[in-house]
Amino acid sequence: MDAVEVLTTRFSAVKIGEPGPPDDVIAAALEAGARAPDHGMLRPWKFIVVKGSALDRLGDAFARALEIRQPGTSAEELERAKQKVFRAPVNIVVAATVDPDHPKIPEIEQVVSAAAAAQNITLSLHADGFGCRWRTGVAAYDATVKEALGLKAHDHIVGFLYVGTALSVTPEHTGADHRRFTEVWTSEA
Ligand SMILES: Cc1cc2nc3c(=O)[nH]c(=O)nc-3n(C[C@H](O)[C@H](O)[C@H](O)COP(=O)(O)O)c2cc1C
Repeated sequence: MDAVEVLTTRFSAVKIGEPGPPDDVIAAALEAGARAPDHGMLRPWKFIVVKGSALDRLGDAFARALEIRQPGTSAEELERAKQKVFRAPVNIVVAATVDPDHPKIPEIEQVVSAAAAAQNITLSLHADGFGCRWRTGVAAYDATVKEALGLKAHDHIVGFLYVGTALSVTPEHTGADHRRFTEVWTSEA
């Protein structure tokens, strides 16, 4: 696939399974992530690759966070929260490790840079034939989850990228028609 084809054929996988991408494919995706535009070259990113038995640790953090948010949650519910991480063989957590008081670069620019990194990662995986689904959910905004991932409370998890082999996709997936939200201003307009 050439680059434009990669961009215009990206889709999110609905169901994701084994095999997950090999280490060299993950490394290439992270390298793509690290090419994200970044005002001030702050590198306000953290990529955490979670796979194999380490998924248990992330799942435990999801469950612990739910228990703290909602004391008294049943064991079954907690187990369901934990099992969410097993929806794909690899999870790449992308966080914006922001400097909220930076004198020049507003926090939102640091966050969108991390989102650009996440998108670069998904596109690289797509180019290499692997499926991905970008998810957030309450866990992304939860202090317990951030702490378990070694993040500071003011950092932002911009996405949990669920990665593996795409087993099913949205039927008849088409991109949005850009003309719905695009204006072209020219000298004649
Ligand atoms: C910041 C962000 C958070 C998202 N969180 C979720 C989520 O928690 N659950 C989900 O099913 N989709 C989530 N999505 C949307 C999917 O990743 C996907 O983009 C959407 O279902 C549209 O499908 P498509 O990517 O194939 O066009 C999120 C997307 C973004 C950009």
